[in-house]
Amino acid sequence: MQVGVFCPIGNNGWLISKNAPQYKPTFELNKEIVQSAEQYGFDFALSMIKLRGFGGETEFWDYNLESFTLMSGLAAVTSKIKIYATAATLVMPPAIVARMAATLDSISNGRFGLNVVTGWQRPEYSQMGMWPGDEYFGKRYQYLSEYVQVLKELWATGKSDFKGEFFQMDDCQVKPQPSKDLKIICAGQSDEGLAFSVQYADYNFVFGKGVNTPTAYASINDRLKAQTDKTGRDVSTFVLFMVIADETDEQAFAKWQSYNEGADMQAIAWLQDQGGKDKISGSDTNIRHMASSVSPVNINMGTLVGSYVKVAAMLDEIAEVKGTDGILLTFDDFVLGVKDFGEKIQPLMKSRTLADSIVPSQVTDFSMEKSA
Ligand SMILES: Cc1cc2nc3c(=O)[nH]c(=O)nc-3n(C[C@H](O)[C@H](O)[C@H](O)COP(=O)(O)O)c2cc1C
Repeated sequence: MQVGVFCPIGNNGWLISKNAPQYKPTFELNKEIVQSAEQYGFDFALSMIKLRGFGGETEFWDYNLESFTLMSGLAAVTSKIKIYATAATLVMPPAIVARMAATLDSISNGRFGLNVVTGWQRPEYSQMGMWPGDEYFGKRYQYLSEYVQVLKELWATGKSDFKGEFFQMDDCQVKPQPSKDLKIICAGQSDEGLAFSVQYADYNFVFGKGVNTPTAYASINDRLKAQTDKTGRDVSTFVLFMVIADETDEQAFAKWQSYNEGADMQAIAWLQDQGGKDKISGSDTNIRHMASSVSPVNINMGTLVGSYVKVAAMLDEIAEVKGTDGILLTFDDFVLGVKDFGEKIQPLMKSRTLADSIVPSQVTDFSMEKSA
């Protein structure tokens, strides 16, 4: 099973809490985290794009670096780990992103791939006069389908004459083309998002669910499989979880409780309000429920809390879920979390090969092809 780190590109990572570590995103911080992840055999690093924060006492996500720019820097200071940036497709034309991706392919020596998002939060785009109107909620994946067709044409042939509802290319030329087929991630959870993924993406990223219910997300794999059965394309699931680990379950739960006690309710209220704005996407979009149930303090992300032994066992359970090829991890404290994962959790996991569990001083020639 592959393992990736979701880079803390926004302030305070994914914890909307006054009691969580408070920090601003910097290149130096992300460099430390991703270089450490690479040393411990992580397969990939991904950063999101977020253009408007939630405010509140913690100014949650009011500070965000830009994804491509950050990943370019990280590509230059790493050598093995795969690097994924996210394109805000509403405000970044495909011909520009095709060129940026080719540039990153060159910087990373073929380690680059792309996450494409439709955008779900109106103020991110309306604040710069680039929200197309609320009917866009219902057209998000039609737009993204055209977008990715243009990208793929440009990467494959160096030119595009695509004519669609959203994009009209006119002898558009983008060279150089990437050195190899660039992998595409989509994180669709709705039926429309999944339908997009089975047609155009290589990996579909999904939200883990609940606290210490590692396999609760499994039904989305069945929904994805029902669609891949029709297209025959190989699209696997990668699942997002936050790890809060310590020597004992009690110590780990004490941290989780403290984060919950310090929840920044003002920022969470803003998220809940934004999540409710899309009345058009089907009820299968997770956005509406994002902050509403088990753990709004971390955007209702699936959470694994416990001793290193317990977390390793839960990660192995996830690896057993059919259709899942990898896990994307966040941590309450990323620097310590990546180190603890590498030294105390990964060596206990059955779903990671011996090579994955090597400690930094022993690393010689590790590549992602070696992971299970
Ligand atoms: C791992 C992961 C990364 C995501 N990254 C972003 C992002 O960078 N920007 C963004 O606006 N949405 C992001 N999303 C939201 C998704 O793109 C998607 O819109 C959301 O999961 C709802 O699914 P739906 O679009 O099918 O309704 C991400 C979701 C996941 C699970």
